[in-house]
Amino acid sequence: MRGKFVAGNWKMNTDHASGLALAKSLVDGIRADAAISAGLASGKLRTAVCPPFPYLAAVAGAIQGSKVELGAQNCYMEKPGAFTGEVAASMLKDIGCGLVVLGHSERRHKMGETDAQIKAKLVAAQAAGLEVILCLGETLAERQAEKTFSVLAEQIAGALGGLPVETLAKLVIAYEPVWAIGTGVNASPAQAQEAHAFIRKDLAKHFGQAAADKMIIQYGGSLTADNAREILSQPDVDGGLVGGASLDAKKFLPILQAAVA
Ligand code: PGA
Repeated sequence: MRGKFVAGNWKMNTDHASGLALAKSLVDGIRADAAISAGLASGKLRTAVCPPFPYLAAVAGAIQGSKVELGAQNCYMEKPGAFTGEVAASMLKDIGCGLVVLGHSERRHKMGETDAQIKAKLVAAQAAGLEVILCLGETLAERQAEKTFSVLAEQIAGALGGLPVETLAKLVIAYEPVWAIGTGVNASPAQAQEAHAFIRKDLAKHFGQAAADKMIIQYGGSLTADNAREILSQPDVDGGLVGGASLDAKKFLPILQAAVA
């Protein structure tokens, strides 16, 4: 039985003080909520925050002793060395990250990241001991052209093709349709379920059914307290990657509540 995993992607938001305050209010809110606390204690629920690089260490301190996990939003594929401006996976591990988000659509589309780069980063991150949240998703034009499944299959093959099945043990997939990210237009529960079921089937093609059945596949794209319950109750939706609603504990906590409901 797969549990649920809800992660907050803070993107390029907060400052030092507000990031710390957000982390603290999340930890306090979780402590005060019996259902969320029980879910986290039993392993049926995982949660994480992914702050910007400069605040990772401070947030690591703020969540210490809680069940909230720490993730970064990107890393570089090389070991430490002459790569000005980049951050190595081992550095993230060193300051307390257990997770890193890779292949987010903003990196694919705004920074031009390719599947080959994402794959190299994924391999480097796992080699450094990080678990990877790998984001996949089609644009609106691709969906309208009925290319959703072929795009997802290409992104899966591009990031994971040829890698050993053990890769899946330290991997979470996030299905994030680009047209739903930050737009207020979420995928319908049926659209999310259809895409998630396809992703699981495609993972089974690469890695076998048993490994695919264990995979946590998060939904991301305008996930909120209002739509979380219905989306997260779909059989192949195993949690969420939350952007906007992760920046306010009052909006994020109800999503955690929906995940354990
Ligand atoms: P959103 O972002 O929840 O603000 O739509 C989700 C994401 O990009 O991870």
